[in-house]
Amino acid sequence: MASEQLQVVRTVTELRGVVRDWRRAGNQVALVPTMGALHQGHLSLAEAGRAVADRVVMSIFVNPTQFAPGEDLDSYPRTFEDDVAKFAGVGGHLVWAPTPGEMYPDGFATRVVPEGAALGLETDFRPNFFAGVATVCTKLFTQTLPDFAMFGEKDYQQLCVVRQIVRDLDLPMEIVGCPTVREPDGLAMSSRNAYLSAAERAQSVALNEALERVGNDLDAGKSAEAATDAARKHLTANGFGPIDYVAVRDAATLAPVARADGRALRILVAAWLGKTRLIDNVAFGASSFTN
Ligand code: PAJ
Repeated sequence: MASEQLQVVRTVTELRGVVRDWRRAGNQVALVPTMGALHQGHLSLAEAGRAVADRVVMSIFVNPTQFAPGEDLDSYPRTFEDDVAKFAGVGGHLVWAPTPGEMYPDGFATRVVPEGAALGLETDFRPNFFAGVATVCTKLFTQTLPDFAMFGEKDYQQLCVVRQIVRDLDLPMEIVGCPTVREPDGLAMSSRNAYLSAAERAQSVALNEALERVGNDLDAGKSAEAATDAARKHLTANGFGPIDYVAVRDAATLAPVARADGRALRILVAAWLGKTRLIDNVAFGASSFTN
């Protein structure tokens, strides 16, 4: 049902005013950071926010500092009116939609540069990406001061990095990880799926298949190296390339592992299909583990 009280604010001052009034009335607040172009994955985070808190804020901000020159900042889909309607449709309460100038005023000169979980994987291919994500998320957290912030497992390394930031900087809030929402054929929902041609969309199912194959191979006792090599071949055979990584990691630390050993693991992939870079990941082993 649509939320009658949905508001859109564009300044930190307005945001703080609304959240302060909610808190005074005894409400708990969940924040859902997004870059818009909302799909069911984003909306599942909003629904999870409603389940843990009384009020849900969604930030919609295409964050320029996490895009490298030549990446898709300019072409990133922007569908603001639709996004607001969709968020209202799941009972959201407030859209926080700062302009780039409100987020990064003239003279802005501070970055949050995470290490630990941010090293390797995405950072090997997008070296400044997590500094951009960490800086904007830290700002979103201190602007909103939520009780909970909702993040998707779809971006598993990002989820680990955000947990690390909150822990390391003693931010008084809880990060809630939410399961990946997939299309019926297994493709993880992503705003970037809109870039795929019909032919690429058909091939894209190989991404999730490759992850499932790694899991099956690990189950069969194969090494991580053998399993990821076979997954790379599957991706190449289905039109993917270059393949940035197929990796088997410890689910908590993201440290490399040689083979399944009873620990909770995460299998992660990033690969190009035509001009589109897709990422995905699945859990392996220790099924009770939740990040
Ligand atoms: P964006 O790609 O818009 O994703 C916003 C949130 O939605 C992230 O937590 C992401 O993991 C989650 N999400 C995306 N697709 C999902 C799916 N299929 N299932 C479940 N959750 C999904 O991630 C970002 O924006 C940005 O880096 C941000 C954190 C907003 C910082 O700018």
